Amino acid sequence: MKTQVCIIGGGPSGLMLSQLLHLKGIETVVLERQTRDYVLSRIRAGVLENGFAKLMREAQCGERMDREGEIHDGFFLAHADKLNRVDLHKYSGGNSVMVYGQTELTRDLYEARDRMNGIVIHSAENVQPHDVKSDKPYVTYSVGGEEKRVDCDFIIGADGFHGVSRKSIPSDVIKEYEKVYPFGWLGVLSRTKPVSPELIYAKHPRGFALCSLRSQVLSRYYIQVPLTDSVEDWSDEAFWAELKRRLPAEVSSQLITGPTIEKSIAPLRSFVAEPMRYGNMFLAGDAAHIVPPTGARGLNTAGSDIYYLYHGFVDHYQKGDSTGLDNYSEKALSRVWKAQRFSWWLTTLLHTFPDSIEYDQKLQEVEMAYLFSSDAAQSSLAENYVGLPF
Ligand code: FAD
Ligand code: PHB
Repeated sequence: MKTQVCIIGGGPSGLMLSQLLHLKGIETVVLERQTRDYVLSRIRAGVLENGFAKLMREAQCGERMDREGEIHDGFFLAHADKLNRVDLHKYSGGNSVMVYGQTELTRDLYEARDRMNGIVIHSAENVQPHDVKSDKPYVTYSVGGEEKRVDCDFIIGADGFHGVSRKSIPSDVIKEYEKVYPFGWLGVLSRTKPVSPELIYAKHPRGFALCSLRSQVLSRYYIQVPLTDSVEDWSDEAFWAELKRRLPAEVSSQLITGPTIEKSIAPLRSFVAEPMRYGNMFLAGDAAHIVPPTGARGLNTAGSDIYYLYHGFVDHYQKGDSTGLDNYSEKALSRVWKAQRFSWWLTTLLHTFPDSIEYDQKLQEVEMAYLFSSDAAQSSLAENYVGLPF
């Protein structure tokens, strides 16, 4: 098979790029290791910045998001039994975020690819990029034991943190920066009315907690847990009891509990690989960078990678201008690092660190006090949370 852009990974990054390029007449093939059902069973992001939502509309995939997603103008930070509201609208100059699940937007992208007869190959095994330094790169894979090959102009590594693309780059040309946090998030999805119409990020000596939602009948809650915990350690009852302990009394008294329909633990990690290009292969999204989910930046940062690649490919194929592709890594990384800084800052502010000394705890306290005494500090939080410009 021959195509212009071969995309490894059928998560949101790969599907979004495939859809956008298709609409500009640029051919793509997407190779995904898992089945579609598996990809759509993963519960991940919930908060989209406006830039990402705009990209969904440009990809002709925004209709259901605009109908079912919720615009949020603010969120709460809970601390010492009190709720403080961060007014995103006021402090970001009128901006807001969209609450719409990654699972749903991935479904919308798959449906759009189907509608337009896009080629998305599932259960692709042993995917491997080849000759990426040449102008005739290709990708091999197998399906049902049969060896296949896609010849292309460019390869996109959109295959997430554990994918093959980044790993195929020689270690002397790629530099990896990593910080692993000594805890994870236990997440629960529950068909119950959310405890609050807006998200609540809670700092508590027993550990961080987050109240989020997917709709007015579907709640998403998280609690910080030690890395040694497993899902089996947490019965539904134990989860609800611990969540309640970490929320202000006025919130926990309102919490509606019920059976959980999904429960999983995500370790928290910060990671960046530089550069994001090797020959004619470009890395995008979680394949190149990971943030702890505290600042809701992961998918949104993948979105800006896709935006730069999309425009780079359109200029390359339609105008013969490769400046956008040549500048991709530098441009993407400049925004990636700002998302890293913000995610690290919010994670450090809100979590309980097992090895923290009293001095660190005092700094967390004063940071929180400063935040709610300063318009400048709240503006800084708001402009990062709604997303810095692309
Ligand atoms: P992925 O979603 O990882 O997709 C990569 C795809 O590649 C997968 O489908 C995988 O199966 C496939 N693949 C892997 N290896 C291969 C291979 N060898 N061959 C072929 N295919 C392969 N972000 C936000 O912006 N806002 C949030 O609110 C938010 N909340 C989060 C909450 C949690 C609990 C977690 C874990 C993450 C959250 N994120 C959030 C981050 C967000 O989910 C990720 O940044 C996003 O999934 C990145 O998309 P991606 O397409 O780059 O990678
Ligand atoms: C979620 O709803 O899954 C979610 C929301 C905000 C975050 C992280 C996760 O910061």
